[in-house]
Amino acid sequence: MFKRLKNKWGVNWLQFTLIFTTFAIGGSLSGYLAKFFLGYVFDIKWTFLYIICYLILVTLLWPICVTTVSIFLGQFSFFKKYLSKMGRRMIGRQTTDDRRQMADRKINIAVFASGAGSNARKIIEYTKANNAHYEVKLIVTNKKDAGVIKIAAEFGIPVLHITKERFFTDAYVAELQNEAIEFIVLAGFLWKVPETLINNFSSKIINIHPALLPAYGGKGMYGNNVHKAVLENKEQHSGITIHFVNAVYDNGEIILQEKCEVLDGDSPETLAQRIHSLEHTHFAKTIDNLSAKMIVK
Ligand code: GRF
Repeated sequence: MFKRLKNKWGVNWLQFTLIFTTFAIGGSLSGYLAKFFLGYVFDIKWTFLYIICYLILVTLLWPICVTTVSIFLGQFSFFKKYLSKMGRRMIGRQTTDDRRQMADRKINIAVFASGAGSNARKIIEYTKANNAHYEVKLIVTNKKDAGVIKIAAEFGIPVLHITKERFFTDAYVAELQNEAIEFIVLAGFLWKVPETLINNFSSKIINIHPALLPAYGGKGMYGNNVHKAVLENKEQHSGITIHFVNAVYDNGEIILQEKCEVLDGDSPETLAQRIHSLEHTHFAKTIDNLSAKMIVK
């Protein structure tokens, strides 16, 4: 948390400490002064009125105290900018800085993949061809020979190899936080997602499924198993589902579904190809839209 704040403010650790100290001393000072004024100067006793006046006084005194302390600790220029930005936000005006930061801001994503990685490739390539709202910071895989590892190397993206034991204990939350991951995308990842991860990334994990959920979902429904079942049932349509991940396999809220026809003479392989091309068209764009929404929030 401190590291993220330090990076956001764009300061070194010494400055960060001085800024933090300024907040602490300035905050306490405004509290003491407010008490002093209310008790000694206006002689207002402990009542509802006292509390209201106290809160108003602290709000008024806080910027003055913090600015004064910042001069002594050599942090005046930081607080001048900080307070003017805060003031503008309070009256609902966006600063140029805010607008620039919003335009440049990217959501850091981790792609979890254990297969060939064709979706992971498309998700990464999308960021090279578009001014995407996300950046792929980490590839996570549980297979030593997963195709996605080569793709990660091609684009210089670090890979986190995970084991079942740890995934189902601490879910590698520390590693994900170290890379400042904000959003998790499952693209061909077969393990059930543990609650630890879901709780730490609430509504921030999505998955892509090669069928029209809720049909053909659940445990064991992956890859060709899905397409075989669709063909056996003589379905006229299949498709893709992009959905949020919850504690139950393929059960979270649906974000997007796209259909395709099942053709006479289709084999699981030909159907898989059609489905893959739907995934490649829609997945990265959907991730981009969701990332854009996260930035605005
Ligand atoms: C995709 O079909 C996706 O729907 C499913 O796993 C497959 C991954 O394919 N969850 P790839 O590894 O991205 O090529």
